[in-house]
Amino acid sequence: MSWLLSTRSEGLSGNLTVPGDKSISHRSVILGSIAEGASHITGILEGDDVVATVSAFRKLGVQITGPSEGELVINGVGKDGLSGPTEALDLGNSGTSMRLLCGLLSGQRFNTTLVGDESLGKRPMRRVIEPLSQMGAQIESADGCAPLFIKGQGALSSIDYRLPVASAQVKSALLLAGLYGKGKTTVFEPVLTRDHTERMLAAFSSNPFKKTNPCEVFDSWSLKGQRIEVPADISSAAFFLVAASLIPRSDLLLLNVGINPTREAVLKILGLMGAQIEEINRRENALEPVCDLRVRHSALHGIDIPPDLVANAIDELPVLSIAAGGAKGLTRLRGAAELRVKESDRIAAMVQGLKRLSIEVEEFPDGMDIVGGVFGEGTVESHGDHRIAMAFAVAGGVAEGPVKILNADNVKTSFPNFSRTASQAGLLVTEGTESISGG
Ligand code: S3P
Repeated sequence: MSWLLSTRSEGLSGNLTVPGDKSISHRSVILGSIAEGASHITGILEGDDVVATVSAFRKLGVQITGPSEGELVINGVGKDGLSGPTEALDLGNSGTSMRLLCGLLSGQRFNTTLVGDESLGKRPMRRVIEPLSQMGAQIESADGCAPLFIKGQGALSSIDYRLPVASAQVKSALLLAGLYGKGKTTVFEPVLTRDHTERMLAAFSSNPFKKTNPCEVFDSWSLKGQRIEVPADISSAAFFLVAASLIPRSDLLLLNVGINPTREAVLKILGLMGAQIEEINRRENALEPVCDLRVRHSALHGIDIPPDLVANAIDELPVLSIAAGGAKGLTRLRGAAELRVKESDRIAAMVQGLKRLSIEVEEFPDGMDIVGGVFGEGTVESHGDHRIAMAFAVAGGVAEGPVKILNADNVKTSFPNFSRTASQAGLLVTEGTESISGG
């Protein structure tokens, strides 16, 4: 079991490139595998979650070279070219892999079993099983959770589906199933969530990308291999946006960050709190807008987080609650009940850790009230959740004494070499391992 130790920082500076976007990386592997011909991906995240998706497609008969130094080459087999695996597909800690693959594999002619680690085994899968069943999929689960057994149906029927919760994973699962769904599949969302699947499907099928809610897909689309440049992940950049905002003397440039409009809410929320973040050199790569982000230390103040920004900042809310802990005054977060069904119950985990570090916080079913103060030293539990672990590493940079974060192995699911990268930028994080008994 590994831990992180984060100590007071004198400021963050220089240029920093964080790893590739996790959501875009998964989608590039999935669509590259079912496209015809080769796809070349650069900047791909080499974290455990994406590696789990790559391993799954190898077991489904796709030849994939890499990832190595951010490059991956996929010899796509075409929409109907996957073959039945001889063993269960183990998706580790990755909810994105499990939900998106559940959609894609429902439309195949062979059976598959999807399994994951203890955390993934507790996450709700009914949200994909129900609409996919309406399309004719046959999926058995352990009371709505993994392991999932998917009985290959060949063709599915199409669907017009209104999502009850804002979820890009459910939307994407249905769009992937829709490629096998007789006619047009349409998905309506309560809020437009990250649209990387729609953008990438448009590129692979040579259709123009239309930024719309509802979005649609046709089973007649065939996919051709592409070159994809994955931008740096704004969700990983967020740890440094908050650290540099809180830590005096910081002036940091984060390079080549993806700033898709459905992912920018973290910048808006930090802006409302008084952060100084500048977008420099904004450009479009073939799929996604990117820029460099300059962030300087500034005095943050508490806010009511606007409810319409919550769904699009869902992965950044743990580190935003650290920003709130170091800001002046009260920050209120509501409408974020989805946080309770992520890699851990992120509301409970943040409340527990903030209290350990002497920050006043009150828990609500769908959020928390945080009164900004001074972080004390202490030991916090990450509950095996990568984003909780990294959020508390940011707190250590401004705390009065060292912050130790337990159970941090899963940081490598989304941010390999986090402690080295953080330390290079001036956020001083070391790591180590110890047995569960503490020896
Ligand atoms: C993701 C969607 C979000 C996010 C997750 C990645 C994706 O989950 O929390 O880290 O890549 O589609 P939901 O769609 O379940 O909210």
